[in-house]
Amino acid sequence: MTQADTFLSAEDAIRRRHSVRAYQAKSVPRDEIERILEIASHAPSGSNFQPWRVYVLTGAKLLRLGQAIRGAYLSDEPGHARDYTYYPKEHYEPYLTRRRECGWGLYTTLNIQRHEKEKMKLQRATNYEFFGAPCGLIFTIDAGLETGSFLDYGIFLQSIMIAATARGLDTCPQASLAEFPDIVRHELGLPKQERILCGMALGYADASDIVNKFSPPRVPVAEFATFLD
Ligand SMILES: Cc1cc2nc3c(=O)[nH]c(=O)nc-3n(C[C@H](O)[C@H](O)[C@H](O)COP(=O)(O)O)c2cc1C
Repeated sequence: MTQADTFLSAEDAIRRRHSVRAYQAKSVPRDEIERILEIASHAPSGSNFQPWRVYVLTGAKLLRLGQAIRGAYLSDEPGHARDYTYYPKEHYEPYLTRRRECGWGLYTTLNIQRHEKEKMKLQRATNYEFFGAPCGLIFTIDAGLETGSFLDYGIFLQSIMIAATARGLDTCPQASLAEFPDIVRHELGLPKQERILCGMALGYADASDIVNKFSPPRVPVAEFATFLD
């Protein structure tokens, strides 16, 4: 049995998955990526729409896209906007507090202080190069599809992450990559009809990097579930 054949239980894989923001240089074999995508393709979707479309980037293509987006971000290039709205225009409770805890938790782990805006910006920029992962995934959705397909898509994304974790790989889902959809379309040669939904880093965690120690807490079941009898 190879290491990849030693699977985790579904519960262990779900619990063990965390967003990993620093990777080893070690590449992910193509058949391993195909296997993970094939497993995730079993995700359910309304009317079996399977609204996902995935671009797997490695090597020069990955570097080019990362550099293009990072450059636009660091130079505050104007005119970039997501193809869809991710967050409300104004944050409100309890989401505001959770968002702040998440953001500050990450910066605290990295010992970045509130006034160190340049350090924050550079940290954020690591998103655009897929945190140094050897493989980057870009997910698109047809522009004609509706909110229901976003529901389907989330299940697919989690299926990828769980399958990857079970096979000894690590991931980070990345909505940040959808902030520059025109650059992504240009670099990948995609039509406007393909909306850029998000990206995902895929690889093997660099366990020695402190950024990977960050793991935000969860709201207890009693706070989000109501049992009605
Ligand atoms: C759809 C989606 C998009 C996300 N986008 C980003 C991102 O752009 N950059 C990032 O560092 N983390 C991103 N995250 C990771 C979240 O911050 C993370 O899932 C959350 O804080 C919980 O932490 P955990 O994944 O380690 O359990 C994203 C998560 C999801 C589900």
